[in-house]
Amino acid sequence: MNTIMAEVASDITEAEPSEELQQAAEILKSGGLVAFPTETVYGLGGDALNPAASQKIYEAKGRPSDNPLIVHIAREEDLSRVAREIPEAAYKLIDVFWPGPVTFIFRKQPEVPDSTTGGLDTVAVRMPSNSVAHELLRRSGVLIAAPSANRSGRPSPTSAAHVWEDLNGKIDMILDGGSCQYGIESTILDMTETVPVILRPGFVTKEMLEEVIGEVAMDRGADRPAGNIRPKAPGMKYTHYAPQAKMYIVEGQTKNVVRCINRLVKERQAAGCRVGILATKYNSLAYEGDEVIVVGERSDEVMISANLYRCLREFDQRGVDYIYSESFAGGRFGTAIMNRLLKAAGYRVIQAPSI
Ligand code: TXA
Ligand code: MG
Repeated sequence: MNTIMAEVASDITEAEPSEELQQAAEILKSGGLVAFPTETVYGLGGDALNPAASQKIYEAKGRPSDNPLIVHIAREEDLSRVAREIPEAAYKLIDVFWPGPVTFIFRKQPEVPDSTTGGLDTVAVRMPSNSVAHELLRRSGVLIAAPSANRSGRPSPTSAAHVWEDLNGKIDMILDGGSCQYGIESTILDMTETVPVILRPGFVTKEMLEEVIGEVAMDRGADRPAGNIRPKAPGMKYTHYAPQAKMYIVEGQTKNVVRCINRLVKERQAAGCRVGILATKYNSLAYEGDEVIVVGERSDEVMISANLYRCLREFDQRGVDYIYSESFAGGRFGTAIMNRLLKAAGYRVIQAPSI
């Protein structure tokens, strides 16, 4: 299969016809697969109500079919086509956060095929804010099932080039809408529990949700190594987001972290290994690794998260054996960023000794 890669502006308005978008819409309507940009990461879309289309998504990604897909919608009235027993609290949250980077879990309508929900009787739904995604949904009239458009196990794609790397030849079309705004996947909130539960942290934080509806819980399985406590979102049990190199996060005061990383680098290099460092801009010149990649400025968490997966992919391309990363805990979005970074690092954390 040839994959078509088409550039589309991400500030498309209704008045601006785009042949590429029309072609993508037709592909979706006829059961094909289109990768498209969202504000979080690129999605691999197919018709959510067509079992054959969701089947194809699993095949293209090499994804286990017990791992359910997120249904993307453009209009609030489409929610009740796929979900039932929608609590009042959900509508309050939708008012504030949709369109945007939050996914809700509800009981599913019978029309949603088991292949889309991985056999669960619940369904994940999200309304993206990215204009290309929105326009694709609107033109196709299709409710789009879309996981992240990476090969299973790889970091999620934040540009069309990443999708091409992973899925070229396996899907019908890639819509190129530039780089994703946030760079990490949506917050997932399970609305089927009396106290809603965050199954995956993201840019819509626990505090932001609680401001609107009061108490929200955090799934304890979401932030742990596989095997300890089973996460409620099936996808969270896989070590994903992982680069090929073995990665470690080094925590502590800045000067101790820099010293500790440089010492570890020397040891690895002495053993003949190539070492990468994931650094913030200010510290980057103080490191002595083979490949120092700057993820952003420490004060700009959105920049850090937008660049994170691209940096992990870049380490793969540069062929390093080990990666040492600074820690990004603390700030407003620290929970979401560290959730992905810890998974990428297989939960390997080193405390930098202070001297
Ligand atoms: O930002 C995002 O959410 C991106 C963009 C493309 O929208 N999508 C995304 O999809 O990250 P994916 O498939 O890579 O991750 C979806 C996660 C998986 O961990 C899956 O197990 C969980 O959502 N999930 C989906 N449906 C679920 C359900 N009914 N119950 C519990 N977890 C569910
Ligand atoms: Mg994914």
